[in-house]
Amino acid sequence: MNTMTAPPKESRFVAGSSDDAMTLCVLDDESGMIEMLQESLRCLGYSSIGTTNPQYALELIENGRVRVVMSDIKMPGMDGLQFLDQAMQRDPGVYVLLMTGYYSLDNAIAAIKRGAYDYVPKPVDRSRLKKSLDELADSFHKRKRIRTLQQQLLSDLEFHGIVGRSPAMVEVFEMVRKVARHYTNILVVGATGTGKELIAKSIHQMSPVAQQRFAVCNCSAMVDTLLESQLFGHMRGAFTGATDTRPGLFEYANGGTVFMDEVGETSLAMQAKLLRVIQNRKIQRVGSPEVRRVDVRLIAATNRDLRAEVLAGRFREDLFYRLSTIQIRVPSLAERLDDIPLLIQYFLKKYNQTYSKKIQGLTRRAQTVLLQHAWPGNIRELENVISCACLTSVNEFIDVDDFPENLTKPAAHNGHGADTWRPLPLEEVRRQHIRRVLETCEGNRVRAAQMLGIGRTSLYRFLKRAEKKSANSSAN
Ligand SMILES: Nc1ncnc2c1ncn2[C@@H]1O[C@H](COP(=O)(O)OP(=O)(O)OP(=O)(O)O)[C@@H](O)[C@H]1O
Ligand SMILES: [Mg+2]
Repeated sequence: MNTMTAPPKESRFVAGSSDDAMTLCVLDDESGMIEMLQESLRCLGYSSIGTTNPQYALELIENGRVRVVMSDIKMPGMDGLQFLDQAMQRDPGVYVLLMTGYYSLDNAIAAIKRGAYDYVPKPVDRSRLKKSLDELADSFHKRKRIRTLQQQLLSDLEFHGIVGRSPAMVEVFEMVRKVARHYTNILVVGATGTGKELIAKSIHQMSPVAQQRFAVCNCSAMVDTLLESQLFGHMRGAFTGATDTRPGLFEYANGGTVFMDEVGETSLAMQAKLLRVIQNRKIQRVGSPEVRRVDVRLIAATNRDLRAEVLAGRFREDLFYRLSTIQIRVPSLAERLDDIPLLIQYFLKKYNQTYSKKIQGLTRRAQTVLLQHAWPGNIRELENVISCACLTSVNEFIDVDDFPENLTKPAAHNGHGADTWRPLPLEEVRRQHIRRVLETCEGNRVRAAQMLGIGRTSLYRFLKRAEKKSANSSAN
């Protein structure tokens, strides 16, 4: 009888071969027992790796070579339950079948509660083992298939790193595809965190100048003088601190694309300079009389209503028309709730990699919380929620405890809180709800009807009725 923990090399007994099959690890302190079990497994059609060394079995789990371990309970050094705990820590998705010569129902239940997949008496009954393993293989393959399908779906629905399959996003992708090949200026509008920069990047990547540079300038982060020097460059000594001569972003990205984020934040003086570049395609470095020609595509983005800014005298009308030859509106996350599951999966994959985690997904109630949130910060907010949850969660599935409080305990003053509830007539609730959805969709009735889950004609009918009612009440 071999009661020693043999070094890994001598203690490996590899049986079976198929790479695709579910490979098991048999862990026991008796090599005779390992051989017997491996023979049984071979007859049942399973390949296995045998070892007397629990550390080696843990390594196999950690590097993903096995996801099923049959482990003895009584072993010197580390018993089966300790092994179970450590295995679960390394990979919460691992299946551990514990084998014992001292079977009792209470112990079986305790082991299963602790995370074991099964608890089988020794000597192991072959038909019982077959049933247990066949069930396991079935769920193992189903899960694998679902994961592959999800991955496939995810990559099919990724458009230059932009995830989305909602009708509103598909419309955006079509527009991007259409306009990318033409070298015109584009205005991307949308609320904060909706992905305006990603859209701008994808336009560049799909354009004929994709090989050229894509330069980003955030207009809100700088005072005018700094912004001017960043965009147009400066000569040495042009201002205090200008210790060297530098080209600006327009020269740097000459032949390519300049992305100007938050263009609505620029001053009127700066807007006049931008207009000159767009009209004449010429720039001057700060402090230099020399005029240089540049050929760039300008993509500007804003989360303001630029038309309203024009009316208020804060944005030049001529620049607005120059910039917005083509306008792309990126919908808010509230307008594309059907993208949330895909985005969650995408960010889980991203942050599992970043933080070396193996989080499988979200619990059902966690998913419900995310689907009910209003997402004022849009995709950026969702990304932050998933990345924090990924970092802090110690379980295989993210649960509501891993979310920030504002998601699980919405503030009372947000208008949706229970304390603002009033016993309104159903018709009034309907009217208010439709009005809010229309506001969210910025008056786009087709999209509002989609969000409301009703036909377009039903929405028109409802609006007509509401209009008539309000006309009648104002006439009385
Ligand atoms: N559809 C999407 N798929 C995957 N990631 C996305 C998507 N949309 C946005 N993101 C991610 O969300 C974050 C915010 O996106 P981005 O910076 O493009 O938004 P923005 O509209 O420019 O925001 P702001 O108005 O604040 O400048 C980024 O990390 C981006 O990668
Ligand atoms: Mg941005």
